[in-house]
Amino acid sequence: MKKEFKAGTIFGAVPPVMVSCGDMKNPNIITIGWTGIVNTKPPTTYISVKPERHSHDMIKKGGDFVINLTTKDLVYAADLCGVISGSKNDKAEKAGLTYEKSTHVSAPSIKESPVSIECKIKQVIKLGSHDMFLAEILAINVDDSIVNRNGKIMLDKAELVSYLHGEYFELGRNLGKFGFSVNKKRGNIRNNSDSTNKKSAIGRSGKPMESKGSGKPSSKKGTEKKNRTLSANSGKSITPTNPGSAKSKKMSKDKYSHMKNK
Ligand SMILES: Cc1cc2nc3c(=O)[nH]c(=O)nc-3n(C[C@H](O)[C@H](O)[C@H](O)COP(=O)(O)O)c2cc1C
Repeated sequence: MKKEFKAGTIFGAVPPVMVSCGDMKNPNIITIGWTGIVNTKPPTTYISVKPERHSHDMIKKGGDFVINLTTKDLVYAADLCGVISGSKNDKAEKAGLTYEKSTHVSAPSIKESPVSIECKIKQVIKLGSHDMFLAEILAINVDDSIVNRNGKIMLDKAELVSYLHGEYFELGRNLGKFGFSVNKKRGNIRNNSDSTNKKSAIGRSGKPMESKGSGKPSSKKGTEKKNRTLSANSGKSITPTNPGSAKSKKMSKDKYSHMKNK
């Protein structure tokens, strides 16, 4: 039996992302939990921001923002950027973060985040307490340490964190791949699925629709980091194989060790 609770914002885990906004001269970072993907083509995301936040007007005026994914080592910084205001603080300095130029938008990216997603605002929707910024993803910059030799992004090696009902958690172990419920072999789902499943889960090629994109870096130039810039549609297809860069992990851990003890 289930017990009914008053309606509220409880949900499954969401990613607590660090959204960088403004420009290189006047940047800021706001931590956002209300975010996600809402469309595949064009790749579209959203962030919901309260109008009273200092970042709200910066994002609205700038017309773009960057979603920087939060790792285990960056969770202290993400929390800090979500409890102090950029109106009175240099959040990057306080959180030990570095701004760097983005490739497709004016808003800077956060160097320490392994995945920076550059977004251009398409629509602002007033919802009530929050304004939702619907935005097209223009580019995804991924640190080399989580891109394997075949050019695939291995997000499971990034040590991403989730935010669940007011608390931060590490991600758990892999429970299966997209489509595993109908067939163990990828690309062979069509044979075993019913007609409803076929429409929603299978692309013309017989590949799962939700796994579009090669996951390989695009040929676009312009990234200033030692990262790979991926075209907006190619950020999936993830194969967990590469051990990641032990060096970068150690550097990042050392960087925050003094802050965690505060
Ligand atoms: C984990 C976490 C998630 C948050 N999610 C949101 C959100 O989705 N929308 C929002 O407007 N504020 C959210 N906040 C609050 C803002 O990050 C916070 O008010 C921040 O200090 C605003 O900074 P600013 O004044 O520089 O814009 C969140 C804070 C935390 C710690």
